[in-house]
Amino acid sequence: MNQDDLKKQVAQAAKEEVLKRMPKGQYLGIGTGSTANWFIDLLAPHRDHFAGVVSSSLASTERLIKLGFHVVDASQLPESIQTQSHPLPMYVDGADEINPQGHMIKGGGGALTREKIIASLAKEFICICDESKQVNTLGKFPLPLEVIPLAQAAITQSLKQWGGTAKLRLISSGKQEGQPFLTDNGAWILDVHGLDIKDPVQLERDLNQIAGVICVGLFAQAKADLLLVGGQQGVQRVQFSK
Ligand code: 5RP
Repeated sequence: MNQDDLKKQVAQAAKEEVLKRMPKGQYLGIGTGSTANWFIDLLAPHRDHFAGVVSSSLASTERLIKLGFHVVDASQLPESIQTQSHPLPMYVDGADEINPQGHMIKGGGGALTREKIIASLAKEFICICDESKQVNTLGKFPLPLEVIPLAQAAITQSLKQWGGTAKLRLISSGKQEGQPFLTDNGAWILDVHGLDIKDPVQLERDLNQIAGVICVGLFAQAKADLLLVGGQQGVQRVQFSK
């Protein structure tokens, strides 16, 4: 199986997991990226199982709407649900890297801020990925930071104290090739290379303190609760301790 087959396989397992464990009539959080896209496509025939879905990007929202899902803005959930500490029972999303503790790097698709917001609304984060995303130490994949554009230079300078080299993410094809990649929030992404992330929880805390950083693509203070990982031998289920 190639990587795309593995993503489809794990998305199928996630679909079964969600339909088995989520009673009918609730709201589901759905992420962004190619693995999340498989999940959306496979879940589409079951859209009426859910009162609605909350999406972490404009791209996922567009796909969900085309497939007939009822997409609800995170701040427009019914009041009886909105006031709960976790309005969503589950959030299903991919990752760029995940370590044995369930800490992740996310944001390869640029949707990290909304992903972190929707994940924070969910009782359980179900990470779905293929086995190439499993690592012992995070940081080989450049860490995405969503930043306020005018703070770019100062943030780049500041990151040097952790050994990080920041590269502004640019649009890689089309008419706007070479222009800064704009997030759904109208901000920029810095991809930070060279970090050796020994303590993801502390680093996430530290980087969150830099003025102008909107969101750090480390999901460590709040990590995955369950990992479904697709490999050549099938889908493995890894439950993380709180
Ligand atoms: C998007 C993300 C994605 O979950 C991450 O990039 C993994 O993507 P893919 O499923 O395409 O490998 O964080 O911002």
